[in-house]
Amino acid sequence: MSCLIVYASRNGSTEKCALNLHEKLDDSVILNLEECSPPLSEFNTIIIGSCIRFGKIHKLAREFINTNLDILLQKKVAIFICCGMQEQVEDHFKLNFPPALLEHAMAAVSLGGEFPDHPGKRLDAFVLRQVRKNFSKEKKPLPHIDEDKIDALARTVCNP
Ligand SMILES: Cc1cc2nc3c(=O)[nH]c(=O)nc-3n(C[C@H](O)[C@H](O)[C@H](O)COP(=O)(O)O)c2cc1C
Repeated sequence: MSCLIVYASRNGSTEKCALNLHEKLDDSVILNLEECSPPLSEFNTIIIGSCIRFGKIHKLAREFINTNLDILLQKKVAIFICCGMQEQVEDHFKLNFPPALLEHAMAAVSLGGEFPDHPGKRLDAFVLRQVRKNFSKEKKPLPHIDEDKIDALARTVCNP
């Protein structure tokens, strides 16, 4: 089998992007890291997707990368994140991924993001309300999933 897409999402936008990529990539397998930790040896290409919360990738994505770093460096790898603040994307990558993996990856991109209507915990809802207010005050458009970037990532993975 050729391509494995693993992802960790809190409110669903990373999952939407992973599913969209899965539809575009023939012969790909998709796995939610909350459900299992996959055997990597069967795959040539690994795509890793994570949400960002308070500047950090999902704990399960971090654990997956730390546990499998040596094997990931021997595979074709692409990384995507979903986040709200596109101006922070460079920092999100720098602060969350091992430099060797970033250098090795054929792509490391943000696919955009969405602010959830119901983020779960009270603190999250409170923080999100403040963030939404700031977006509105600064007349910034709310984040959205960028279909063009998903297409571009799928093309990069097919033609590295
Ligand atoms: C509580 C909370 C904290 C967030 N913190 C950040 C952040 O630090 N930087 C950022 O760019 N986006 C941040 N976001 C926006 C998320 O990254 C965005 O909603 C993303 O689409 C979430 O992916 P998911 O739906 O797969 O969980 C935050 C969202 C929430 C609800």
